[in-house]
Amino acid sequence: MDVLPTDRCAAGLAATAGSVAANAQPITAAFYRRLFAAHPELRALFNDGNQATGRQARSLAAALVTFTGHLLGEPGPPVDAVLRRIAHRHASLGVAPGQYPVVGTHLLAAMGEVLGAAMTPAAHDAWDEAYWLFATALVAEEARVYQRIGADPGHPWRPWRVTARTVATPEVVSFDLVPVGPDPLPGYLAGQYVTVAVELPGGDRQARQYSLSRAPGTGSLRITVRRVPAVGDAPAGAVSSHLHDRVNVGDVLDVSPPAGDVTLAPGTGPLVLLSAGIGITPMIAMLGHTARLRPERTVVAAHADRCPRHHALRSDLLDAGALLRDFHLHTWYDDPADAGTVTNGEVAAGETRHHGPIDVGALPLPEGARAYLCGPLPFMRDVRAGLLARGLPPEHIRYEIFGPDPWAGTPPTD
Ligand SMILES: Cc1cc2nc3c(=O)[nH]c(=O)nc-3n(C[C@H](O)[C@H](O)[C@H](O)COP(=O)(O)OP(=O)(O)OC[C@H]3O[C@@H](n4cnc5c(N)ncnc54)[C@H](O)[C@@H]3O)c2cc1C
Ligand code: HEM
Repeated sequence: MDVLPTDRCAAGLAATAGSVAANAQPITAAFYRRLFAAHPELRALFNDGNQATGRQARSLAAALVTFTGHLLGEPGPPVDAVLRRIAHRHASLGVAPGQYPVVGTHLLAAMGEVLGAAMTPAAHDAWDEAYWLFATALVAEEARVYQRIGADPGHPWRPWRVTARTVATPEVVSFDLVPVGPDPLPGYLAGQYVTVAVELPGGDRQARQYSLSRAPGTGSLRITVRRVPAVGDAPAGAVSSHLHDRVNVGDVLDVSPPAGDVTLAPGTGPLVLLSAGIGITPMIAMLGHTARLRPERTVVAAHADRCPRHHALRSDLLDAGALLRDFHLHTWYDDPADAGTVTNGEVAAGETRHHGPIDVGALPLPEGARAYLCGPLPFMRDVRAGLLARGLPPEHIRYEIFGPDPWAGTPPTD
């Protein structure tokens, strides 16, 4: 994002950026309240769970603080990766340029509501200009994504049929999907996701992203969905429960084309794939792709899970690994004895099995490796910090977050 604010804008931002950053979360919370009150039809576009838990408000707040710091020339993380991530997410949901004025109006109104008298007319004009600098950069990036994925802005949805439903573990089910009608199966890059929209029993429409859990180049796309259980006062996951309980072979789902910016970079150097729980899904696509096209590549796969019984896609991991010439598998299980099946219980050839939480220090880390991470946020924060401590440069570490990014591209390292 190579844009410079006008002097007036920079002065207005400099005067208020501190208060905006300090109040970023109340501002974004007020923004969503105002947006949905004025435009209830937009609710279906947003994830109800991320609204209820405040995760989306935190992610927007973090992005705004990072973008503003960038406009003011402050040292900080590169914003292009943050823009790319948001643009892919927006395009996968059909966010269109015509929606930016509405969002801008309510975001500025929310700033006025929270900052009160500090939001002077000069400050208002400065934030208005800044908003449109962010918005213009996002709209441009989204136009590129829409072109690349072959979707119309605002209308990315197509009907897709479920052609197979496979139980992977007691909590995880895979669905194979193909487009209904004449549309060809779209190409995708290992690491990308599709967005699936469903009508819930009460009539609400909700959309969620699911990583493609198989390498590109087969006759269908596969997603692998973990059922999110109710815990205490937190309800069971709406869409994952719906997919598990109500979606069967032959059913048709609304799906948008594969998108996502965390993809396997082409190359021949060593790869380190680190996952925990359902975070294994994009890793299987990356591993399968490498096994088919670059079997000479050294690959270290590390996976952490509760137990072998709950380790989804373990057999896919072993099958792809068997095609590689130099494959090292390290697994960490909290309860290695809970195996479920004999296959999952057996230690495979080339597998080193550990007990307890993942320890990056125990991994072989080949010279020049590139690492891809996917799992819960604390897992990725700790693993990334461990890889950095072992000398991997930050630009060689990519991670996919299964929810709104609270770090605006820069995870904490402690
Ligand atoms: C890029 C990407 C790739 C992904 N890939 C995968 C994948 O391969 N496989 C996979 O299984 N998932 C994947 N996900 C996660 C997936 O998109 C969904 O977030 C997940 O399935 C949960 O959705 P849900 O509708 O079931 O849960 P939601 O209904 O969204 O609930 C999520 C959480 O919020 C809590 N919550 C909801 N409402 C409230 C409330 N009112 N009060 C308190 N708490 C509440 C729930 O208890 C739950 O813990 C991915 C996400 C992204 C962004
Ligand atoms: C400058 C303006 C905007 C900024 C800075 C912004 C920022 C963000 C961020 C940071 C995320 C989270 C991305 C992630 O998953 O990590 C996000 C998601 C999203 N944005 Fe925007 N956005 C903007 C404009 C818009 C507009 C105009 C719309 C359309 C109404 C929109 C709709 C959405 C939706 C639906 C999501 C997904 C929410 C969810 O999963 O809960 N955004 N945006």
